[in-house]
Amino acid sequence: MSQPDLVLAIDQGTTNTKALLVDAAGRILQQASVPNAVSYPQSGWAEQSATALLDGVRQVIAAIVSKAGAQNIAAVAISNQRESIIVWDAAAGEPIGPCIIWQCRRSAATCEALRAAGHAGIIEQKTGLALDPLFPAGKIAWLLDAVPGARQRAEAGQLRAGTVDAWLLWTLSGGDVHATDHSNASRTQLFNTQTMAWDAELARLFDVPLSLLPVVMPSDSRFGETVAGASALPSGIPIHAMIGDSHAALYGHGVRKPGMVKATYGTGTSLMALTGERVLSRHGISSTIAWSTSAGPVHALEGNISVSGQAAAFMADMLGLADATALSDLAATVSDSNGVAFVPALVGLGAPHWRADARGTITGMTLGTSRAHLARAALEAIAFQVADVLAAMEQDTGTALAELRADGGASRNGFLMQFQADIIGRPVAVAAAAEVSALGAAALAHAALGHDTAPVAAAEHYAPAMPAAERNEHLARWHMAVARTLNQPE
Ligand code: G3P
Repeated sequence: MSQPDLVLAIDQGTTNTKALLVDAAGRILQQASVPNAVSYPQSGWAEQSATALLDGVRQVIAAIVSKAGAQNIAAVAISNQRESIIVWDAAAGEPIGPCIIWQCRRSAATCEALRAAGHAGIIEQKTGLALDPLFPAGKIAWLLDAVPGARQRAEAGQLRAGTVDAWLLWTLSGGDVHATDHSNASRTQLFNTQTMAWDAELARLFDVPLSLLPVVMPSDSRFGETVAGASALPSGIPIHAMIGDSHAALYGHGVRKPGMVKATYGTGTSLMALTGERVLSRHGISSTIAWSTSAGPVHALEGNISVSGQAAAFMADMLGLADATALSDLAATVSDSNGVAFVPALVGLGAPHWRADARGTITGMTLGTSRAHLARAALEAIAFQVADVLAAMEQDTGTALAELRADGGASRNGFLMQFQADIIGRPVAVAAAAEVSALGAAALAHAALGHDTAPVAAAEHYAPAMPAAERNEHLARWHMAVARTLNQPE
């Protein structure tokens, strides 16, 4: 009998949880997906139920196992939404509060206090990340303070904390393993990417007990094994890769050396490029760990855009349209936005501005503005934000990036991808599969098992066709709108 060689790759994202069954050649044999709910209990806050996220993961695993069985699954791989934090009780196996997700700004006051006390520099130097409530450190402290008795329980060793990967590993392994990988750890703002360890000074500044945090392991480690009853999987299947979703997409595109950049168009958009060595940004970009193996960490620059695909969904809702596809159809009925710009600072602005206090702005409306112009402005905003991050990355690396590799939901939108190529003045190559994050995680697990899978190929190529003068006019309109957004009075 042949050895099992399939990888069950889970991509636990903000909007959907997906699972793919992938063979050693990188082909998708089965897939399943469930949507996830997000709540916004206060302005600037965003959270999900950690139990519901786990239930979603269990559902997609069950869907795959019911179709294909589990006998040929050699390993489980996990890619996940990063920077979303869960604190749970180890004995009860229950979260002590919501999963406070990456978009949540509830720790803004903590970040402001640290900035006012002069700590922003050391935090950025140690972690490579701007001091911003996107990152989980302040959110863990918030949970410990908000839930009665949580700090005492933490001190007594009863609680565990981690990003979504760690929560899934812990639950799927039946509470056996509390670990994370370097890519996820590097996004917490508690991990020192120079010393490659949790940092006691950062833990003290953010008031997070280090004892709560998971063990950090290379991204392709054999992290643990599934336990029967925890999901539809039987006992003994190794969980063989864990990696943040944006990082997994870079891996899935086959990027292994500096010079290429990818954009994953999800709820937000993440641009990432390898740097060879650790580079600290001077232009509002994060320094991060792309992934790690036993050979060590692979460093990258990343620009996080907090709201992009979600800007289209948001505008569709505002305009009473069914979804982002209907928005795109409406946008295609006009040839431009008629001077309108929409800056979707709906949870503040991330890279390269890092202004948690910014709020969404629409500029340039007149009596001639139609719903179609607003729809178009929402789509254009996705491309403009990518252009700003790309420019900042190029300033940091000092080299022009030749082509943008695109993946994720909005990369399927041909109108948007053409506009993207026009606005950056560079070709855009769209991945053949939408699920590059899950495929990247699967490829990492397969590599650890000794199989070299082919990267996800590009299916569509968009060449820039817009004259430079027109591009500059678009960018000037956008930058004026961003300046107004950043200068709004409180
Ligand atoms: O940094 C947050 C990012 O990892 C979320 O990804 O796919 O849920 O939009 P996604």
